Amino acid sequence: MTEKEIRTSFIEYQSLDELNAEDRELASEAIAAMGCAYAPYSHFHVGAAVRMSNGQIVRGANQENAAFPSGLCAERTAMFAASAKYPDKDMRSIALAGGVHGRLTDRPATPCGACRQVMAQYQTKAGKPMSVIMIGASRIWKFNRVDDILPLIFDSI
Ligand code: THU
Repeated sequence: MTEKEIRTSFIEYQSLDELNAEDRELASEAIAAMGCAYAPYSHFHVGAAVRMSNGQIVRGANQENAAFPSGLCAERTAMFAASAKYPDKDMRSIALAGGVHGRLTDRPATPCGACRQVMAQYQTKAGKPMSVIMIGASRIWKFNRVDDILPLIFDSI
């Protein structure tokens, strides 16, 4: 028997100013996308933005429904819209932000398991790492690849 360990690492920034220009732009788009959330039940507004290999950015926001499972998270809304719009392009990175009344959560918003799985799929499709940027009011976390937030990714391809 051998005990094994899985390690992960990420970068923590104190403010958006510390991000490189591309990531800062993507983060701003995710924050702006919070305003497009339709969340009459949770009142928690999540915005996401995906950067494609052609440089284009596609936004998404959470969409809720009276039949709860019919709603969708911001990240999947953004990724599905991006893949439908640019089916031949890769997803390079995704940023997300959440909060109530337009106020960002202090701790960065973190993606749910289903959204991580969908990120993993598009990263596998691209064959290149896709970074994940989680935005909070007092700190920002950047993970360089989806594997860092979803170890032992399910991949049947
Ligand atoms: N939500 C997201 O948009 N992304 C996540 O990764 C987790 C949760 C949404 C779903 C629901 O509309 C609201 O946040 C509260 O759970």
